[in-house]
Amino acid sequence: MSALRIADVGMRFGGLWALREVSFEVERGSVVGLIGPNGSGKTTLMNVISGVYKPTTGEVRYAGRRIADVPTHEVCHFGIARTFQVVKPFESLTVRENVAVGAMYGRDGGTRSTRASFERAQELLEIVGLAQVAQRPASDLTAPNRKRLEVAKALALDPEVLLLDEVMAGLNATEVDEALELLRDVNRRGVTLIVVEHLMKAIVSISTTIVVLAEGRKIAQGAPTEVLASPHVIEAYLGSRWAKRQEQLRVIEAERAEAEHMQPHEPNA
Ligand SMILES: Nc1ncnc2c1ncn2[C@@H]1O[C@H](COP(=O)(O)OP(=O)(O)OP(=O)(O)O)[C@@H](O)[C@H]1O
Ligand SMILES: [Mg+2]
Repeated sequence: MSALRIADVGMRFGGLWALREVSFEVERGSVVGLIGPNGSGKTTLMNVISGVYKPTTGEVRYAGRRIADVPTHEVCHFGIARTFQVVKPFESLTVRENVAVGAMYGRDGGTRSTRASFERAQELLEIVGLAQVAQRPASDLTAPNRKRLEVAKALALDPEVLLLDEVMAGLNATEVDEALELLRDVNRRGVTLIVVEHLMKAIVSISTTIVVLAEGRKIAQGAPTEVLASPHVIEAYLGSRWAKRQEQLRVIEAERAEAEHMQPHEPNA
């Protein structure tokens, strides 16, 4: 059964179409990896799905309703929560208070006491690995911990669909593995995930389906291994990174050659 239906979505900013004719469905309980080069429209699509932007064309439907018709502050009651690529916690509140706010105002918030909201916040901080810093002001957190807080805040809304925009950026390899384990756990509890991430290994390991955007258009969709093997995708996405990597290698090679040139040659052994 599909949880979300994205139909012919276009989003224009002045003269620029950040999204054009994007359509796909998100199955309930699935993990959709959304990838594409910088500026391809991933965050814009997250903003359309979470109701922050009304699309210029097309629509997103969730549980039979057009997201654009739901007031933004009600989208989370509706079951959709998201994290932000640029993290914005309430700096003066403690880590736990930040999460408790979500627990009070999310889908089940109306039925939760303040005390129960703080208990729920503490549980979530344990899940994301922030229990030790629960009483510290959010402004004290390191960048990776801010990402964890962002996930805990979104989870506090008890979403059915969770949109994650680059929550693994800046994490080391071990932390990425922990984050993936956390997301798998969240998904096993029945939460549908849409994950934007540049780390290809992470995307492949967690996604059931991958959708690729390039210049605002959907250029591929399917099983991870299939999609990443597509020449079209390699050219549009991996191609640009490959080209960048090749350029870096050329620079390194040139520097090495120059350094060698400046050193006296060793006699051949
Ligand atoms: N509010 C806005 N006003 C004007 N242009 C915007 C706005 N938001 C995004 N854009 C433009 O839309 C295009 C898509 O941007 P978007 O942030 O969605 O890309 P992205 O795929 O998330 O990129 P990244 O990987 O760098 O996060 C870009 O050209 C961007 O400059
Ligand atoms: Mg983005």
